[in-house]
Amino acid sequence: MEIDLLPFGDPEYQNNPYPYYEVVRNMTPVYASPSGVHAVLRHADIFKVLRDKRLSSRQLDFGVANLFHDSMFGQDPPDHARLRKLSTPFFAPGRMDEWAVVMRDYVDRALDAAAREGGMDVCQDLSFTATFGVMAHILGVGTHEAAECRQKVVEMGRALRPSATDEDIEIAVSAFAWCVAYVQDLIATKRRNPGDSMLDAYLAAMDSGGMTEREVMSTVTFFYAVGHLDNSFLIQNGARLLAQMPEVRRAYIEHPELRAAIIEEILRIDAAEQFVTRAILEDIDVDGEVLPAGGIALMMLGSGNVDERAYDNPMQFDHTRPNLARMQLAFGAGLHGCQGQTLARVQGEVALTALLERFPNYRISGEVEFAHNEFIRAIRHLPIEF
Ligand code: HEM
Repeated sequence: MEIDLLPFGDPEYQNNPYPYYEVVRNMTPVYASPSGVHAVLRHADIFKVLRDKRLSSRQLDFGVANLFHDSMFGQDPPDHARLRKLSTPFFAPGRMDEWAVVMRDYVDRALDAAAREGGMDVCQDLSFTATFGVMAHILGVGTHEAAECRQKVVEMGRALRPSATDEDIEIAVSAFAWCVAYVQDLIATKRRNPGDSMLDAYLAAMDSGGMTEREVMSTVTFFYAVGHLDNSFLIQNGARLLAQMPEVRRAYIEHPELRAAIIEEILRIDAAEQFVTRAILEDIDVDGEVLPAGGIALMMLGSGNVDERAYDNPMQFDHTRPNLARMQLAFGAGLHGCQGQTLARVQGEVALTALLERFPNYRISGEVEFAHNEFIRAIRHLPIEF
């Protein structure tokens, strides 16, 4: 039997895929895995191939997550552009100050409560609450049942990876059903209390025939997922790394002009989404190897971000590297490149800055519990004390 060099279901791989990436990346530009997918692992190739029009998101089988085909994420041109442009104004640079104020308010309240306790869990008490609150604010809806909604979104995500089990899929089916009912309820409430939020924009598009009801359901559910999970991970991993690297923490506190680069390096060194997936419509040459028509390509963002062809000492944290933002793969690239990336960077900086202003000497006070799988790098518990 052929050995799988990217064993997605192996807990050791899920815990630390980087040594596996290194072996495969240095062996071949395209790895045809025995599991049937074709993985692209080098930085320059991922950057280029993600812009190739011979790849499709529409043609992917999302299985249990089929609803997401009706959001921009699951579409190809021209529907992709039609759906994406409806939310573009909400991620324009001009809106960021407003979202930063909302974020700061959530973070300050979390830190006030933590100050009374002498510590906090960065995941449960700070990052999830704040990012979820900002997403709800942008959508123009309340934050009722936030904990349940967050839990359901995590359950949906478990089915979106190659090694999902039957149990994961069963749980995800009911999580999707829960979210659809939740969003239907938000829409009904919004109809009674209109405004100028993102959800209002979607309802106006629906009323004028620019969007179907299913596209609204899909898009809002999708925003709940992407709008609070990966950005939470940035905050959590940032808080963890800054606690473990006193010099970087000092640089962050004393040199505000370095903060953006430190955030960028946190994103680079351990990408929240380890890969993005595409259907291959026609043969694509990648450095002499072929992504074959009819196959599935995985662009291994986590590997590209630590490719020694692109970065010296790639596993070393170094925020002084040149062109960090320009070379960043954590947000994908091309047509589907992350629409929320400016917001995510703002949220990361607001949260880490507030934490360090209030508690510059915070320490990790217990076991860090990770929730990694082959797709997502996440932390479940990060206890800190002041
Ligand atoms: C650190 C935080 C984040 C990371 C690492 C991240 C990562 C990604 C990646 C890798 C993709 C590409 C998916 C693909 O090509 O198939 C993506 C797409 C997307 N992200 Fe993010 N994301 C983050 C935060 C956010 C936030 C805060 C929002 C919105 C509030 C957001 C909204 C989106 C949207 C709408 C897409 C789909 C774009 C399209 O299909 O055209 N993301 N994100």
